[in-house]
Amino acid sequence: MTKRFFLETVGCQMNVLDSELVAAALLRAGYRRTFERRHADVILFNTCSVRQHAEDKIYSALGRLKHIKEQRPDKLIGVLGCMAQKDREAILRRAPHVDLIVGPGQIGHLVALIEERERTSEPQIAVALPRRGHRRDTVAQSFALYDPDRLTAARAQRHRAMVRIMLGCDKFCTYCIVPSVRGPEQSRPAAEITAEVRALADQGCREITLLGQTVNSYRTAENGRQVRLSDLLERVAEAEGIRRIRFVTNYPRDMTPDLLQAVRDLPKVCPYLHVPAQSGSNAVLKRMKRGYTVEQYREMLAAVRETLPAAAVTSDFIVGFCGETEEDFEATLRLTEDARFKNSFIFKYSPRPGTKAHELFPDDVPEAVKRRRNHELLGLQNRISEEDNRRFIGETVEVLIDGPSKAAGRTTFAEGDAEPSAVSAANGEKLQLTGRTPCDRIVVFHGEAKWIGRFARVQVERVTAVTLFGTAVSVES
Ligand code: 5AD
Ligand code: SF4
Repeated sequence: MTKRFFLETVGCQMNVLDSELVAAALLRAGYRRTFERRHADVILFNTCSVRQHAEDKIYSALGRLKHIKEQRPDKLIGVLGCMAQKDREAILRRAPHVDLIVGPGQIGHLVALIEERERTSEPQIAVALPRRGHRRDTVAQSFALYDPDRLTAARAQRHRAMVRIMLGCDKFCTYCIVPSVRGPEQSRPAAEITAEVRALADQGCREITLLGQTVNSYRTAENGRQVRLSDLLERVAEAEGIRRIRFVTNYPRDMTPDLLQAVRDLPKVCPYLHVPAQSGSNAVLKRMKRGYTVEQYREMLAAVRETLPAAAVTSDFIVGFCGETEEDFEATLRLTEDARFKNSFIFKYSPRPGTKAHELFPDDVPEAVKRRRNHELLGLQNRISEEDNRRFIGETVEVLIDGPSKAAGRTTFAEGDAEPSAVSAANGEKLQLTGRTPCDRIVVFHGEAKWIGRFARVQVERVTAVTLFGTAVSVES
C-alpha cells in the first residue's frame, strides 16, 4: 500500500518553499499526497514562530490529533520548521504523541527520520544548534543548506516558483525570533542559484521570486570578486523562458543605488519592492534596533521614487510595540500617508520569549489599543491603496494568470493529487480567474481554465483597495 502524507503550512514564503521541498522528497520516496488529514499515514505541520497566534493554532491542531493517535498509533505526526527549532521540549511536553520534531535546518533529513521512527518506535528530534553559546560558523553549519532538484508536481503552480538565495538573518531586530530559529545569515553560491533558475525555466516556470529574510543583504565571493544582489539579478535575467523576477524581503539599509539601477535596467525584474518600515517613530525604531531613522527610511524611499517612478513599494508595520505612545503611532500614520505604499502588512506586537524585546521591555500597550491602532492604520492604508488603484481604471495591464479566483468557488483537490488540478468548469466555460501584474496587483477577470499559467492583457474596469476587476483583451497562446 502506498503511504500518504498530509502537509499543512503556516507562516512566510520561506516556509512555503520548505514545504515544497519536503513534499518533493516524500513524493520521490514513493509517498502520495493527500489533502484530507484523516486519509494520511504521516501528518506534518510546517510551523511558524513569528507571532504567538501562529503557535497557538498548531498546538490546538496537535491537541485534536491526540485521540486519533491513540486509536491509530501507526500514524506519524511531525512538527517541522520554526516551532520545532524553538520549542522542542515544550512540544513534547504539551503533545507527547508527536513522533517527529524537525527544525528548518534539518528538513532535508525528513524521509530518513520517518524511516528511523518506524524502525525504532522512538520519537525523532533533529534541530540545529542554538545561537547562544556556540561559534557563529559552527551554528551556521548546523543549519544545513538544503536545495535539492525541484519537482514541478510538488508545487502549487507550474509557472511560478520561489528560489532561496539566502538562509537566516543576522540583523537581530529586538522583537524578532527569526535569527534564533533560522540561524546565521548565509548566502548561496550564485552559480547554484542560476542553475536552479535555469532548471525551473526548463520545467515551464515563467516567474521567479528570489527569497531571503533580508534578500538585498545577499553577498558572496566568486574568484575573489564580490557578487551582490544586483549582480545576481543580472545573471538570473539571462535565463531563457523566465519572464518575471521578484525578490523579497528587503532590508531598508541595504537598498543601495546599484540595486535600484538593476531593477530599472533589467526589464524582467519587476518594479515591486517590499521594504518593511515597521514604525514611523524614531524612538520605536531605536528600541526595535532596526538600524535606521525614519528620516533615513524616507531618503531611501525618495531614492526609489527617483530611480523607479512606477515602482510599487510595500511595507510591514508592527503596532503596539513596547512603549509605543499615541505620538509614536501618529508618526507611523504620517509615514504611511506620505509613503503611499501599494499595501502594508500590519501586525500587533506579539512578545517572543528568546528575543531582546521580551527580555528588556514590558509589553505595555493594552490589547485593545493594539487592536485600535491596527484597525486605524489599516483603514488609512486601504484608503491610499484604493485611491492609487483608481488610476488603473480604463488602462490595460499585463497579468500572469495564477488560477481560478477564490470567489470562483470550487477548486477540487483530488485525493492523492500534488496540486489543486481539476477546475470545476467544463471545457471552454468561462470562470473567474486571477492574475498578477508586474507590480503584484491582483486582477480578477473571466477566462478559460486552459489560460492558467499564460500571460494576458486585461482592461481594468473597477477597483477596490486590494483588487482590480476587468476584461481580458488578449491572451498569449
Ligand atoms: N510581533 C508582531 N509582528 C512581528 N513581526 C516579526 N516579529 C513580530 C512580533 N514579535 C512582523 C514584522 C515582520 C513580519 C514578517 O512579521 O513586521 O516584517
Ligand atoms: Fe526579523 Fe529583523 Fe531579521 Fe527581518 S531583519 S527577519 S524583522 S531580525
